[in-house]
Amino acid sequence: MPSQEIGNTTVASVPDVDDESDGQPLSVDHLEGNGITKNDVQKLKLAGLCTIESVAYTSKKTLMTIKGISEAKADKLSMEAAKIVPLGFTTATEFHHRRSELICLTTGSKQLDTLLGGGIETGSITELFGEFRTGKSQLCHTLAVTCQLPIDMGGGEGKCLYIDTEGTFRPTRLVLIAQRYGMNPDDCLDNVAYARAYNTEHQYNLLTQAAQMMSESRFSLLVVDSIMSLYRTDFAGRGELSNRQTQVAKFMRLLQRLADEFGIAVVITNQVVAQVDGMASMYNPDPKKPIGGNIIAHASTTRLSLKKGRGQNRICKIYDSPCLPEADCQFAIYEDGIGDPRDEDNE
Ligand SMILES: Nc1ncnc2c1ncn2[C@@H]1O[C@H](COP(=O)(O)OP(=O)(O)OP(=O)(O)O)[C@@H](O)[C@H]1O
Ligand SMILES: [Mg+2]
Repeated sequence: MPSQEIGNTTVASVPDVDDESDGQPLSVDHLEGNGITKNDVQKLKLAGLCTIESVAYTSKKTLMTIKGISEAKADKLSMEAAKIVPLGFTTATEFHHRRSELICLTTGSKQLDTLLGGGIETGSITELFGEFRTGKSQLCHTLAVTCQLPIDMGGGEGKCLYIDTEGTFRPTRLVLIAQRYGMNPDDCLDNVAYARAYNTEHQYNLLTQAAQMMSESRFSLLVVDSIMSLYRTDFAGRGELSNRQTQVAKFMRLLQRLADEFGIAVVITNQVVAQVDGMASMYNPDPKKPIGGNIIAHASTTRLSLKKGRGQNRICKIYDSPCLPEADCQFAIYEDGIGDPRDEDNE
């Protein structure tokens, strides 16, 4: 990994993806030959399938929905991709070994990293939900910087892709966070690919573009802030709920595919609504639940609930995780990003 000396910290420069490098996804170009033409490869790329992994993880039925791909061709593509990408069983030992190599991105707060077992996990989807001003977007801003750090500093040595549906991304916030980590702010901003999404169709198309960009250079984080806001307005009526959920599911599947394919961390933010059903309100005077129903609940691997604490302090609670116990901790929002609460704040 080439490094550059910036300030007094060595910061890894984000490399362009080189097909020969270990662990990087292979471009679909490598499928050419054996009855698969350059034209076929081009069709796959246009549909957002830019790596052999993406073809291997896509069902034959979905491959056939790509214009110009016949059933026979879809069969051939699946078969060739499966020769390269392992899709069968593996031992728990091997899986354990692979998981122990999983990179976590630092949140900027030691307490929060510890609560999360190291930080935000790569290769899966983490959902941050909570009321307004609970720090969801602030945490995303800090991660957009820390994901670029060298691995031994809690980073992912990759770029960040930021999809903003609410217009709250502020590059000036990144400058101070970059300086805190001894990074050159200009380089840091150059490594964040930003797009504002204006409707749900646009939000989905941006992800297809993201797949293309990720196959060209190394990304370690994808942020969607926030996941449901455009679906809420594009599908407002009661009668549109089922249609809405179908579209949300499609979006979440693509997010998960990108996490699997490129080993990136996916962080989504979500809004909450008052929970009206009986039991919850018996034990909790102000129950809130994230929106998006079962689709978001099942698609998010780790779900974190954020609440306001005193002053700039916030409370993060693990709401759902495949391996972490229900626990909480405090963090704080500062000018230079997320950090641990300082003593004077606790008095
Ligand atoms: N430069 C800064 N320095 C310190 N704290 C800041 C700074 N900018 C914003 N904050 C804090 O962050 C809070 C806003 O957090 P954030 O934007 O992450 O909320 P959110 O959870 O994304 O809310 P929403 O649901 O409205 O998007 C503000 O209330 C403020 O306390
Ligand atoms: Mg926000």
